[in-house]
Amino acid sequence: MERLNGFCTLSASDILEAAERVGTPVYVYDEALLAQKCAALQRMPSAYGLTVRYAMKANSSRALLRMIHDRGLYFDASSLNEVRRARLAGVPSADLMLTTQEVPQGADRADLEAMMLQGLRYNVCSLRQLREVGDFAAANGIPLAMRIHPGVGSGESATRNTGDKYSCFGVHLTDLEQALQYAGDRGIVFDCAHVHIGSGGDPEAWRQNIDRQLGFVERYFPQVATVNFGGGLREARMPDEQPADIEALGAYAKQRIEAFFARTGRRLHMEIEPGTYVVANAGYAVTRVIDKKQTGPEGFRFILLDGGMEVNARPLLYGSRHPFYVVSKDGRLLSSEFSPALAQSPCEAVVIGRCCESGDSQSLDAAGLNVPRRIAEPDIGDLLVIGGAGAYCSSMTPMNYNSHVQIPELLLTRDGALKVIRVRQTLEQMLQNERC
Ligand SMILES: Cc1ncc(COP(=O)(O)O)c(C=O)c1O
Repeated sequence: MERLNGFCTLSASDILEAAERVGTPVYVYDEALLAQKCAALQRMPSAYGLTVRYAMKANSSRALLRMIHDRGLYFDASSLNEVRRARLAGVPSADLMLTTQEVPQGADRADLEAMMLQGLRYNVCSLRQLREVGDFAAANGIPLAMRIHPGVGSGESATRNTGDKYSCFGVHLTDLEQALQYAGDRGIVFDCAHVHIGSGGDPEAWRQNIDRQLGFVERYFPQVATVNFGGGLREARMPDEQPADIEALGAYAKQRIEAFFARTGRRLHMEIEPGTYVVANAGYAVTRVIDKKQTGPEGFRFILLDGGMEVNARPLLYGSRHPFYVVSKDGRLLSSEFSPALAQSPCEAVVIGRCCESGDSQSLDAAGLNVPRRIAEPDIGDLLVIGGAGAYCSSMTPMNYNSHVQIPELLLTRDGALKVIRVRQTLEQMLQNERC
């Protein structure tokens, strides 16, 4: 059985079986790898306890939510609907935190309050949210978390940096004293201080944030017992990328939290909330080659797939690279970007989708320009698999653009079975809410 790479359990014949079972494009997830990632995060060193919250925005498919919850992870949700979705998947309110830009009103507000009474953690992200939710929380003895905007961040791209002046997530440092004065006057208690500096950024920036954040806790938050360092743990999707060393980051956090205790007598519980690190490499988008084109001697060779930006928008959004695997119609692995032998392949091509959009390319750089990649020369009908597609693909697709339907999802279970966890959307479902 020829595995796609050295870290997943998916083989080329699993890919062929998935394509034959439900057609292409389709996402396939690797349960064994997902379980391994959850376990590695839970083993991260910590001083006085660790809670790992899965940032469910990365992938909210019900089967994955259940698997991740069964492995003991808690959840961070970015909208009330994500909270509802997790609850529908069987995750109790008490295992969820809401960190959102929304300011729920009306029926949503009533729903939020009911869930807070059941244990939903509310992470205050703005002064307005504090004014809206604070009195209710104080009246019911519910402590709140606060997301602090630290003024410094790091991300895979400018649009994934959530800690600098170009984004407005959380209560900015310069508003902190005002927020805490307001809270103090009303008996509102903060027991958790939260910072998320961005996604896919420099692990060194993540490490530096630990000290900055502990400084905020010491200076401003006497009642805080939990410090949440956010997500953003870098994962390596491509062979030349380096993942964050979570063991070393945990060891550093442990040492700094212990030093904090020595200084203040306060034992802080640590939380992290990774999304990417949990699911990114456990997901594969399986597509089929439907055409080949070229744009002359000064141009490029193009390999056209039956799924592109609507399956994986990350290259278009962030200039992200994802590894390509070519699997023949009869289930042989023809190339993997993890194989050194690929350097000999004569095929250098740009891999694109079928949307009427020149940005519908899986081979873009950060400037939005096509950069050819080396793959085995595929025949029409061969399968091209896009790796690293477990996070921010299914959950963040520009679904239904060009009226392409939402694609199915399969799970390769630990006993080797391919299980359908989402069926393909139909054209009727796409249109069902239209009127007249
Ligand atoms: C508040 C918060 N926490 C956690 C995450 C997860 O980040 P990542 O997928 O990079 O781990 C995000 C992602 O944007 C986020 O906004």
